[in-house]
Amino acid sequence: MIAPSVLAADFANLQRDIEMVNGSEAAWFHIDIMDGIFVPNISFGLPVLKAIKKHAQKPLDVHLMIAKPERYIKEFKNAGADILTVHLEASTHLHRTIQEIRSEGMLAGVALNPHTPVESLSEILNDIDVVCLMSVNPGFGGQSFIPRTFDKIQILKEMITNSQSKARIEIDGGVNLENASELKNKGADVLVAGNAVFKSESPIKSISMLNKS
Ligand code: DX5
Ligand code: ZN
Repeated sequence: MIAPSVLAADFANLQRDIEMVNGSEAAWFHIDIMDGIFVPNISFGLPVLKAIKKHAQKPLDVHLMIAKPERYIKEFKNAGADILTVHLEASTHLHRTIQEIRSEGMLAGVALNPHTPVESLSEILNDIDVVCLMSVNPGFGGQSFIPRTFDKIQILKEMITNSQSKARIEIDGGVNLENASELKNKGADVLVAGNAVFKSESPIKSISMLNKS
């Protein structure tokens, strides 16, 4: 599954770019929310998410790069999130946060920074729908893929199989046509791609090629 990251879209032509994704082989829209505290960058917030929701015909996969994400679960539900992902590093009572996300009727995701071992998910793997492995340090699009991610996928895949968890593995950051097939071979289920889609000559073709990798 491919989830184009709207962070790399043309914000002055957001409706056009959303419609491109609607008509593509993409499965989800990936939406990056940054607060300038958890990560050193500010992207956009609830009003923009609501505007995207008006036109999007596929689920909105919302990646919260914000401190204390538990403060805003209801707001993101109301703004249109279908999948809500919080960072393990940002939420002290992660188990409670996940339960709240699910009780709002959304799928619950947990994202891990590159330095965070996948083993830190062992106690909650059965409670989550998505594990988002960051393959760059979160905060910016267009960074280079961190190769250690390949090993992390394999370890996580084994943990998921052993625990009979239904969690999907999502890879976020520096995904492109060169690494997509290896990511899938190692066990990735969802590939997030920003620059590799929106900065390419034909975004629709790039999505299709990533999907077929
Ligand atoms: C990074 C974001 C990513 C980003 C990916 O903090 O979480 O979703 O948009 O962009 P690319 O694919 O350009 O690395
Ligand atoms: Zn993201």
